[in-house]
Amino acid sequence: MFSKRYIAGEKLEDAVTVSKQLAMKGVSSTIDHLGEYVTEIKMAKQVQRIYLEMIDRFEQEDLSVTYSVKPSNFGLLTDFETCFELVREVVEKARGYDSFVRIDMEDSSCVDAELELYQRLHAIYPQNVGIVIQAYLKRTPKDLLFLEKLHSEASPVNVRLCKGIYVEPEEIAFKDRKEISQQYVKALRFLLEKGIYVGIATHDRSLTDMAQQLIKQYAIGSEKYEFQMLYGVTPELRSELVRAGHKMRVYVPYGKEWFGYSSRRLKENPKMISYIIKALFKRG
Ligand code: FDA
Repeated sequence: MFSKRYIAGEKLEDAVTVSKQLAMKGVSSTIDHLGEYVTEIKMAKQVQRIYLEMIDRFEQEDLSVTYSVKPSNFGLLTDFETCFELVREVVEKARGYDSFVRIDMEDSSCVDAELELYQRLHAIYPQNVGIVIQAYLKRTPKDLLFLEKLHSEASPVNVRLCKGIYVEPEEIAFKDRKEISQQYVKALRFLLEKGIYVGIATHDRSLTDMAQQLIKQYAIGSEKYEFQMLYGVTPELRSELVRAGHKMRVYVPYGKEWFGYSSRRLKENPKMISYIIKALFKRG
């Protein structure tokens, strides 16, 4: 099945197994339970239960794991206050283990609410929650200034920087690959200059090369950044970065709702079909 390459499996134990395998290669994980856009609070509460159980399970292991949540899964666009409370309890649980929850950034209809969610959670749990910034959005420089205002030594902001995966209209998002890369580098420079912790989330070699140059140029210590990649994507580049001494975290999704996640990955990369065929033959 195509999804096998990108998804740990359907069960929590599959994610535990994959995280252990990654840990043996010197790679940390961030765990995501698949699913998006829950409109009933009853379902959002079920999602929360899955996360609470997940955290308890992972924390029994000696793994450097964090957790990634999609707020739309917690009813973000249906009932913000309930979503806030549900996610807050997940962060509270993670804080109990001195761990960390990243709020994924979803499509543009969610960005304002997700930044607000982050601002409020960061005020309560400054060490245990992070946000994502999408370089392709034209609003990103403004959002970075907003995050800079929240940042201090006592309340450090923690950002995952990615290109952005959703199909957005031209009025709000850059479309051209070169332009998106330029925006990415600008945002990365900003975060490094301001001393804001950054998860450099990309498989684009030109960007990982540039990031390594900037890290050197600004003499950024390993306590201020890590590289991040998706499970199943560019494992060779991932190993190279680990060998070069950089911290690496892999996004490990698991669960039954693999279709939306996998088909986004396929659409994103038209070359995928050749990767899939190669992988099929390799395993064959
Ligand atoms: P790009 O798409 O240019 O890919 C660079 C190279 O990587 C390709 O040429 C190919 O070799 C390889 N590659 C890329 N995708 C591949 C695939 N599917 N299979 C095989 N090879 C592939 N987005 C978002 O909107 N919100 C979020 O919260 C997140 N979170 C997130 C976490 C992490 C850890 C990562 C790495 C990414 C995200 N993203 C995301 C996705 C991100 O926005 C972006 O869409 C993808 O990372 C693809 O962009 P790249 O920077 O990798 O470059």
